[in-house]
Amino acid sequence: MDKTVAAELILSWEKELDLEWKSILADSPLVKLINTGIEDRRLYGLYLRETFHYTRHNSRNQALVVQNIPGNTVQEIQYAKYCLNHALEETGHEFMALHDLNSLGIGHFTPQDFPEPLPETRSLIHYLYSISESGNPYQRLGYSFWAEGSYRYFQSVLSACRKNMQLANNNMTFFVQHSDIDDHHYQEIKDLITSLPLTTNDCKAINKVMIESLQQTAQVLSGVCRSYESQLKRDKEFKI
Ligand SMILES: [Fe+2]
Ligand SMILES: [Fe+2]
Repeated sequence: MDKTVAAELILSWEKELDLEWKSILADSPLVKLINTGIEDRRLYGLYLRETFHYTRHNSRNQALVVQNIPGNTVQEIQYAKYCLNHALEETGHEFMALHDLNSLGIGHFTPQDFPEPLPETRSLIHYLYSISESGNPYQRLGYSFWAEGSYRYFQSVLSACRKNMQLANNNMTFFVQHSDIDDHHYQEIKDLITSLPLTTNDCKAINKVMIESLQQTAQVLSGVCRSYESQLKRDKEFKI
């Protein structure tokens, strides 16, 4: 793709994401709850549990994309290599979320004992498998595009949690250390978009998945809030 065209396309997606994030953060019940000054680390714990659930599938659905790449050109092979390398790099990142959860002093958790994901999280997981295994082979780039570059959007929400729940960097490795890795991944995606011969249809598919997967992830945040509030009513049974 021509460098100038690619740069304009990336800029337009970033602008669209700015607007989408603004509307998500303004409407999110979880953000509203955090902004009340909540000190309860169990809310963050529930978020980390759901994050563990969907993050463990990221490497798997990323790897599955290769079954959908025709592999007829050097660029398609280059893209297949990117998918496999990225899958490899994402493998095990869910354990950062587990580490953070176990650092909170609210219990010791193992993945085997987790309840199944919330319906919103299951829906995100199914969605990501579906767009990885079928349809346009480039469309999963839309998910990576926002996910790898998203940290700047929720800095103020994270700071509120850090302050009110008295969290240290060691309780937030999924965000703190991960954001360094993802800065590199974000640059990699932008370079890849520039180097691939993407058609108008490919770009439309990427754009669609970018917005849909972000909205599905926002639903996970709402699910965390709903689960927290409903469990709070039955305080003695509170389960992470
Ligand atoms: Fe990751
Ligand atoms: Fe990443």
